[in-house]
Formats: sequence, structure tokens, C-alpha cells
Amino acid sequence: MSKKIGILTSGGDCPGLNAVIRGVAKASYEMMNDVEIIGIIDGYRGLIEGEYKVMKQSDFSGILTLGGTILGTSRQPFKQMRVIGEDNIDKVKNMKENYKKMGLDCLLILGGNGTHKTAALLSEEGLNVIGLPKTIDNDLYGTDVTFGFHSALNIATDAIDKLHTTAASHGRVIVVELMGNKTGWLTLSAGIAGGADVILLPEIPFDMDKVAKAVKKRAQSGKAFSIIAVAEGALDKEEAKMKRKERLRLRAEAGYKTISDKLATYIEKETGCETRVVVPGHLQRGGNPSAYDRVLSTQFGAYAAKLIKQNTFGVTVAMVKGVITQNPLSEIAGKAKLVSPDDQMIQVAKTMGVSFGD
Ligand code: F6P
Repeated sequence: MSKKIGILTSGGDCPGLNAVIRGVAKASYEMMNDVEIIGIIDGYRGLIEGEYKVMKQSDFSGILTLGGTILGTSRQPFKQMRVIGEDNIDKVKNMKENYKKMGLDCLLILGGNGTHKTAALLSEEGLNVIGLPKTIDNDLYGTDVTFGFHSALNIATDAIDKLHTTAASHGRVIVVELMGNKTGWLTLSAGIAGGADVILLPEIPFDMDKVAKAVKKRAQSGKAFSIIAVAEGALDKEEAKMKRKERLRLRAEAGYKTISDKLATYIEKETGCETRVVVPGHLQRGGNPSAYDRVLSTQFGAYAAKLIKQNTFGVTVAMVKGVITQNPLSEIAGKAKLVSPDDQMIQVAKTMGVSFGD
């Protein structure tokens, strides 16, 4: 059976992308006779502009443990896909034409929520698409877990561990801002793993005063330091009522760029505790994949190869209740998996005395 397989990686990178690419490639070479793999450069940009390279089998060696993506990536917003801009490029038409020009039998698309919306669009347009669930945010609908999440979780937890020792030595409050604009899976998990005292998530608007009270309560019980893990997209109750534009305007007027800055200023004023902000930022997406992500990515990649062999397209690979499976793209695209305020992890953290500022 001969197959020409296109692969692209899109959106924010994360550890595990190369492990998935390797999983797909190795399993495809094993399972099918005549396999050619085309690596599309920088995600949808390469598909739009027809930039790609024919991969050799040796290109997939030694990349299991390598962070980032050997194919490169870019952000191409879904909203813009059907918009023809000043460059006069019809992006969807180009992607379909380039798919044909490359002579692909199928296209594997590794990415998160935005990427999957475009993957579903391309599938509707008649391309043979298989998605693979990538994001450190862990917010792709229909899968227990996405690859990249566990690696980021290890990094974020390590950051909290290190901040703990310095916060304790100095008797300071440290506000550590973790990635996650719309969802707080990473902050919730790292917060619990790192023993944070306060955890603030985009899904649960918080009361500044309650956070300050939690810090004061600790100080009164003899604990002079506190760790506050806050997701970058967390909002206080006032901000949660506002439109984004208004929120950003008010923050800028007050001299804050981020929720962490605003929170740290408030805490210092209200509690008198010296407060610092730490933003690990893109460190959370860097470096090599964790052992968990290497296993998961290999499982996801090998499963995708099986789907190619069976000619099953229009789906994305997922883990559901611990089993690797697939979901129709049409059923998951455009939906997000958010943290529910009733989530067991939140209940457990509350039982341990963690404040969510609610
Ligand atoms: O989607 C992954 C993510 O890391 C988010 O958690 C974060 O908000 C965003 O990407 C950062 O994007 P960029 O790399 O474009 O700054």
C-alpha cells in the first residue's frame, strides 16, 4: 500500500511534538509498504505558501527526546482563514491546491484548539485530515489529556518548588503567573503539585480581598510567606464583568499590564507583606518532553498511523478514559474543555485549605 503523508505542526509549540511526528513516521514505515512523508514548514503558513520538504527516514531518528518541532510552527488565526487580505491570497484555496500539488493522501495536523478549527474546515473542504491533540493548556475538548501538558506541568511545578524556598527564607509573598489564558488546568495542577496557598484560575473570578485575607490568615498562624499561583487569564470579580477592551484600558490606566501585577500591588498594600511577581512564561513550553509525554506522544502517533492505514479521516486522536481513540473533528472543533468549579481537584485543594479567592 503506498501512502503520501503530509505532517504539520501549528500554534504554540510544546515538548512532545517531535515525539508524535516520530511516532507517526516509525509506525507508518512499519505498517505500510511504500510510505513517503512530507514535512510542511511552519504549520498552516507552509501549507498556504507551498513550503515543504520531503522527509527521509533518518529525519525521524533521535527526535523522541527533542523539544520544539523539527518542522517549525506559526500562529495562523482561524478567524483569518477565510479572509482575503491585502496580499490577495485565498488561504483556503491555496491550502487545497498545495495539498493536491504535493499529491498527499492525507494530512496530519498537530495542534490545539485554533488549529483544530482549521483542521475541521479543511476536512469539510474535502481533504483527508487527522488531528493530534497538542497543547500545554490541556483544554482540547474530548480528550482526557493533550501532549505537552505534563511536560509543562513538571516545569511549572519545579518553578513553584524553587520559589517556595526563597519565599520562605525572606518571608515574602510570591505571585507566580503561569500560562493559560482561557483555562487553568496547568495552574490548578501545578498549584496543587507545588503546594501553592492560593490558586487563581480564569474559570473562577476571584475577590482580591479574599486573597489578601488568605495571606493574612497564614501570617497570623506564623507562616510569613505565601505562594499564589495565578493563571495569566485569571480575572478578579470586577474585571470578569467587563469587556476585554475596557479591562485592558483600566489596567493600563492603573499602570498594570497583567493580573499578577495588579494582585501583587493589592496584596502588598493590604497585608504589608513584601510581594514579588515571577512569570516563568515560555520556559513552560521549552525543553525536552517528560517521560509521560514521550509515552503519550508515541501512543498518539502510532494510533494516527493506524488510522492512515485504515483510511479513517476527519477525526482527531484522543485519550478517553485512559484509552487511545479518535473523535470526529466536527464534534470537537470550536469547543473547549474548561475547569469546572466542581472539579474534584478543586474540591481536594479546598479541603487542604487552598484559597481560590471565591
Ligand atoms: O496555547 C499555549 C500557550 O502557551 C498559552 O498558554 C499562552 O497563553 C499562549 O500559548 C502564549 O502564546 P505565544 O507563544 O504566542 O506568546
